Amino acid sequence: MVSKRVEEALNKQISLEGNSSQFYLAMASWAESQGYNGTAEFLYRQTDEERQHMLKLIRYVNERGGTAKIPSIDEPPVEFEGLEKVFEMLLQHELKVTAAVNSVVHICLEEKDYTTHNFMQWYVSEQIEEEATARGILDRIKLTGAEKGGLYLFDRDLENLTGGSISVPDAGK
Ligand code: FEO
Repeated sequence: MVSKRVEEALNKQISLEGNSSQFYLAMASWAESQGYNGTAEFLYRQTDEERQHMLKLIRYVNERGGTAKIPSIDEPPVEFEGLEKVFEMLLQHELKVTAAVNSVVHICLEEKDYTTHNFMQWYVSEQIEEEATARGILDRIKLTGAEKGGLYLFDRDLENLTGGSISVPDAGK
């Protein structure tokens, strides 16, 4: 059974993961509309991964005797300044998610909820990988340069990047 405080913290995390999914969906759609098809593919995969992160939490809260709250979604931006900006925003967003995950872990310790603490370790590891992926992509975009030809190569490379950072076990495991 989760305490009210842990339940609240997990519901906040559910909202953040849901909003991450929407945010990356907006980025994917923008990239597609600009003809950056490799980037769009990568981001469409990311948006699905974030939805899985949300679902995993929803199912955990319900399994542990709490009540998951399905979040309302903030409207994400429609336009982005460019590819580099997109991945800067993505990295900043992931840093925010990491801070939120750490805060849930902290609350688990205060509440002596070692079961949820253990469950959250999956998110702790996931954040290390997601931050590394975002940093790697930003480095790559800086190396290829902002010229049209460079961006074309970058975009093509990204299509083959399978989001190796992101693997999602079944919900509730
Ligand atoms: Fe689910 Fe990218 O944090």
